Amino acid sequence: MAKEGLEMTEETEHMIEKNVAKEPDSAVCAADSKEMRAVLLTGFGGLNKLKVTKKLMPEPQEGEVKIRVKACGLNFLDLMVRQGNIDNPPKTPLVPGFECSGIVEAMGENTKGFEIGDRVMAFMNYNAWAEVVCTPLDWVYKIPDEMTFPEAAAFCMNFVAAYMMLFEVSNLREGMSVLVHSAGGGVGQAVAQLCSTVPNVTVFGTASPFKHEAIRHSVTYLFDRNVDYVAEVRKISPEGVDIVLDCLCGENTGKGLGLLKPLGTYILYGSSNMVTGETKSFFSLAKSWWQVEKVNPIKLYEENKVMAGFSLLNLLFKQGGCSQVKTTVQKLLSLYSEKKIKPIVDSLWALEEVKEAMQRIHDRGNIGKLILDVEKSPTPLGALSTPVHRAKKKKQKKEKIGDSDWRITGQRFHGDPTS
Ligand SMILES: NC(=O)c1ccc[n+]([C@@H]2O[C@H](COP(=O)([O-])OP(=O)(O)OC[C@H]3O[C@@H](n4cnc5c(N)ncnc54)[C@H](OP(=O)(O)O)[C@@H]3O)[C@@H](O)[C@H]2O)c1
Repeated sequence: MAKEGLEMTEETEHMIEKNVAKEPDSAVCAADSKEMRAVLLTGFGGLNKLKVTKKLMPEPQEGEVKIRVKACGLNFLDLMVRQGNIDNPPKTPLVPGFECSGIVEAMGENTKGFEIGDRVMAFMNYNAWAEVVCTPLDWVYKIPDEMTFPEAAAFCMNFVAAYMMLFEVSNLREGMSVLVHSAGGGVGQAVAQLCSTVPNVTVFGTASPFKHEAIRHSVTYLFDRNVDYVAEVRKISPEGVDIVLDCLCGENTGKGLGLLKPLGTYILYGSSNMVTGETKSFFSLAKSWWQVEKVNPIKLYEENKVMAGFSLLNLLFKQGGCSQVKTTVQKLLSLYSEKKIKPIVDSLWALEEVKEAMQRIHDRGNIGKLILDVEKSPTPLGALSTPVHRAKKKKQKKEKIGDSDWRITGQRFHGDPTS
């Protein structure tokens, strides 16, 4: 792996905020320097554990590609990492982020297939939220000219996970039906689009009500996430569904398995329900695990049901699944070129706005994917007033930063329930 740059110890978020406030352009002109901006997670916990800091730039090792980052994907998993709400969390401080897009700036030895100047998107095993990253070439993919950098940063995690679950794990075919939770989110929208590439597939989705108008067209039937979706699905399809995609581990396993038709597949791929506030709640964690249904394999055999689990990052980083993932990315890029799929970007945020961006996911506000746009300057204060914005404004006032009233909220493309 690349040698990570040493953190500049005396640099603090506050100092960077002040510097940027004095001279907004300095945020984007680190190109000639040996330093770069990066988001740092200083310890597990709330939003206050995130700051933007300066680090020395990494240099590519053998088999690695150095990328000048343009955009980074913000995933639900990043919230869980921040809280330390994952198995075997790495040590902090760390630079979060699992995917980015940008331009190849240099290559280590043995990096055939890439050239300086190539437009690429990449998976990272952490460290993606920085101006420059180095990552093994097995996790880097060239992107088509027509794909924007934010789209590319919204592509890999959501579409690869959705594709592999639908087509590799559960063999989606014409005429089948699929149930997906959080249908308005990054993965949810990728699932909906991929289902529409197969004739006559029925998609049942759940989502917060305020999103319904915006995403109704993308699924066949949409339910409020708070209603008894099992009863609603049964009213429409008494025999159940062929595929259940469950990212709410614990709450839904029994319901999901119960909804399957014979030979149907239930896939567990997330545990969003374990996030119940800004910091990890041991009570909720214990409750969630306690609620996880005990599945009897003999019952699966008797009822002709398939139960599966899927973790893209484990496949990629721990189980040597690079070539399977690469093949999937190529198939997805073909679908993109044929205009059958298109990543949905919810909003763009400067690195310095990472807390506000994360708060938007906590607030269930996003439709599609949140992107950290490395070249974006923080937006002036004022337009929106969410709890985070208000707290930040108050803090800034207290600290007498003066009238540098120009940071805060990201560029939004959809309605915000908290405004
Ligand atoms: N296994 C894998 O390989 C893999 C890969 C990617 C993602 N995932 C998992 O897939 C799920 C979706 O990921 P994503 O990145 O696309 O995120 P996302 O769906 O965009 O996440 C945000 C949405 O999740 C819903 N949600 C459910 N529980 C929530 C909670 N406790 N707090 C806030 N929002 C909650 C909300 O939508 P509604 O209010 O509309 O329900 C919210 O808008 C996550 O569980 C993630 O870990 C797994």
